[in-house]
Amino acid sequence: MAKSKNFVCKECAATFSKWSGKCDNCGAWNTISEEVPFSSGPAGKSLGSKRGTPMALFDLATEEAQPPRTRSGSSELNRVLGGGLVPASAVLVGGDPGIGKSTLLLQAAASFARAGLKTIYVSGEEASAQVRMRAQRLGLQEAPVKLAAETNLRDILTTLEAEKPDLVIIDSIQTMWADTVDSAPGSVSQVRAACHELTTFAKRKGITMILVGHVTKEGQIAGPRVVEHMVDTVLYFEGERGHQFRVLRAVKNRFGPADEIGVFEMTGKGLAEVKNPSALFIGDRANPVPGSVVFAGIEGTRPVLVEFQALVAPSPHAQARRTVVGWDGSRLAMILAVLEARCGVPFTGLDVYLNVAGGMRVSEPAADLAVAAALLSAREDHSLPSETVVFGEISLSGALRPVGQMENRLKEAGKLGFSSAIAPSGGKKRDHADMQVRYMSDLASFVKDTFGE
Ligand code: TYD
Ligand code: MG
Repeated sequence: MAKSKNFVCKECAATFSKWSGKCDNCGAWNTISEEVPFSSGPAGKSLGSKRGTPMALFDLATEEAQPPRTRSGSSELNRVLGGGLVPASAVLVGGDPGIGKSTLLLQAAASFARAGLKTIYVSGEEASAQVRMRAQRLGLQEAPVKLAAETNLRDILTTLEAEKPDLVIIDSIQTMWADTVDSAPGSVSQVRAACHELTTFAKRKGITMILVGHVTKEGQIAGPRVVEHMVDTVLYFEGERGHQFRVLRAVKNRFGPADEIGVFEMTGKGLAEVKNPSALFIGDRANPVPGSVVFAGIEGTRPVLVEFQALVAPSPHAQARRTVVGWDGSRLAMILAVLEARCGVPFTGLDVYLNVAGGMRVSEPAADLAVAAALLSAREDHSLPSETVVFGEISLSGALRPVGQMENRLKEAGKLGFSSAIAPSGGKKRDHADMQVRYMSDLASFVKDTFGE
């Protein structure tokens, strides 16, 4: 029988049968280390076989005695959780170091404690005194939250056994270590073991567990993807360092819609909720600027308007630059190709920069038309009317495809003072009293219509 593979890359979790300096899978250097195969104890095994299957969800949904969700004081957080915290669930909150995870979770801990949950905040990164100082800064020193500074899993579980809390926050999963596993904290097997131990313990005891995880530069929760499958809900806390806005995004949720977002603002006193993100992302639109187009998007269940900004300039380089912030680079390449092939608008020899204002990240294909409009507007130095929103998916043939939730998009735009929209035809058309909608069937006619070529 082949010898079991026991060298694992910390970045991508690929396994190898021997050590090497460079990971063949993701190309990272010095990330491969020897890992001890993970074996769970008998208690873990019986629960483990049930996890990750539809069984658990089904059981939860039909269990009559199921206590209701606990709502925090933050409606943004509740929304992302799908309405509140589900008892005995496991939530993973990932994000770059320094983005504000500890701040968010300390505030959430205080909020849930005030809502009646017996809450313990376990910090493996800061001493209790430091967490207390942070709480003071956030004005939460009176909150009925218990603090523990601990990294040894066995000690933590012993404490939890004695304390019988309702909610436990582990900050962070990468600092935890099980003495049964023979590798350093933060390694794949330690993270996996810690996550497994904590989540199975929590399910057994009916405790809700929130785990904090750092994200690697590739955007994956470090140590690694396996952790995402062990929990019920995965939230990412994102934002640009220079911006004060933070977006908490549900990428997986067994108990609510995925892709739901909550928007926060980092202030001197912690994170504040942003109730109307559209107003914030589109900023001041008194003067139309070439290259700037407002996209009427949907994030989860909520319409959000965001501004796309493009800059197109002659390139001094042999190979023109394509730089994207907040959107998918390959999607941009596709739209440039469609503009060239189907509409006869070449971008050869031109540098293209595309940015989503406010540090927001958009992943909807419905933004295609807004991106195309921003690129054309920048290239032609011709601004779109400032009271217009744009949305629609572009296919490779240059046709515009209808997108979901047209009504909600138009309603949100109307609420924010926009009076016209450019939308794909083919969907349901309705008359809008205060919104003038131009329906387009293909990109070429949009180009002709708007930029008069
Ligand atoms: P932190 O929650 O420690 O981030 P993480 O746990 O994700 O590593 O937040 C770090 C940043 O947040 C830090 O740069 C300072 C800033 N911050 C504020 O701006 N206001 C505040 O009230 C707090 C507590 C932090
Ligand atoms: Mg932290």
